Amino acid sequence: MRQLTIHDQGQPIYPIYLTDDFASLGKAVSALNPKGRKICIVSESHVAPLYLDTVKANLAPVCGLVTSFVFEAGEGRKNLDTVQDLYEHLVEEHYERGDVLAALGGGVTGDLTGFAAATYMRGMRFIQIPTSLLAQVDSSIGGKTGVDFRACKNMVGAFHHPSLVYANVQTLHSLTEREYISGLGEIIKHGLIKDKAYYEWLKANREAILAQDPSVMTEMIFRSCKIKQEVVENDPREQGERALLNFGHTLGHAIEKLKDFSLLHGECVAIGMTGAARLSASRSMISTSDLEEIVQTLQDFKLPVRTDRLTAEITAETTLSDKKMNKGRIRFILLESIGRAVIRDDLTMDEITDAAAFCLVKGAEEDR
Ligand SMILES: NC(=O)c1ccc[n+]([C@@H]2O[C@H](COP(=O)([O-])OP(=O)(O)OC[C@H]3O[C@@H](n4cnc5c(N)ncnc54)[C@H](O)[C@@H]3O)[C@@H](O)[C@H]2O)c1
Ligand SMILES: [Zn+2]
Repeated sequence: MRQLTIHDQGQPIYPIYLTDDFASLGKAVSALNPKGRKICIVSESHVAPLYLDTVKANLAPVCGLVTSFVFEAGEGRKNLDTVQDLYEHLVEEHYERGDVLAALGGGVTGDLTGFAAATYMRGMRFIQIPTSLLAQVDSSIGGKTGVDFRACKNMVGAFHHPSLVYANVQTLHSLTEREYISGLGEIIKHGLIKDKAYYEWLKANREAILAQDPSVMTEMIFRSCKIKQEVVENDPREQGERALLNFGHTLGHAIEKLKDFSLLHGECVAIGMTGAARLSASRSMISTSDLEEIVQTLQDFKLPVRTDRLTAEITAETTLSDKKMNKGRIRFILLESIGRAVIRDDLTMDEITDAAAFCLVKGAEEDR
């Protein structure tokens, strides 16, 4: 088992355990002193049949009562209706502020459970048991919780830290290959924005990573968690450095929306990183060969770098509605070199349109 601890202003606030089973979950949770308390495991229809019983069996001996709330899987259910259904379950089962929620699933489950925990009775504790690659390296860490509202992603939310993150890497084996590879988009991003040595390590271990070799996968998740940890500790409320994690996300979110969520998040981020790398090269911040190298690496990891049936102008326009605006200016994360990202808010519409054009192809299928 490997462990990291997230700090807030130097104080330890919660541990992240990286394991390959659920055997230590009970022990990890008993450190939160849930004796006599209820724990509600929140999960969804894909993950619950696979892991709910095991998680329940591990939690039952350390707390007063375990209940479960299972919703239909998918981003489409990450909304206030599902949160209300969850509140209803908590009320019916007489949950109190001292009780605990446990999010068992991907980022959708973690975001929704965290939001319910932040708001039910003005805030209760919750733990993250992330089961997707994206959730293990990204969404379970950092305390951002929330749900979608109408057509707007993550429009309603709260900062609320989990009390524990318990990631069992074995659960990744049941992910579809496409979901796993999509998670790799965020992992490659970690290397590109913060850590060149890690980026090179990812490239050197590509085959083992794609084959989901357990020890390489654990090392990769550990290193990515460390990068996310460093960034969120330096900037817990996303006022500065944390914005670097949005590399590839400005164009990525626009494409995600315009493609009506038919592409996965990490896939859109890979396409968005291609555009952001192009912008960085156009400004001579990185060389053309760096740009080509980044595009090749994303493709080597079977990620898409271009998408079809969109126009550059509309894609560029759509970036303006992104939450990553700062005082009316669009904020872009660019690369100064591989392993070093910077924030820029002085981009012209022409530059953004050119970057969008670079990651769009007319008519053809996604260029993987
Ligand atoms: N809070 C944050 O900081 C943060 C950061 C990034 C993303 N997010 C959010 O995370 C969400 C995306 O996360 P995601 O990609 O994990 O989505 P997800 O939760 O929908 O999971 C992706 C798919 O994988 C399935 N799945 C998950 N674990 C599985 C397993 N072990 N075996 C089989 N199937 C499994 C799910 O049922 C789903 O179909 C988005 O809503 C996004 O907004 C939040
Ligand atoms: Zn992301």
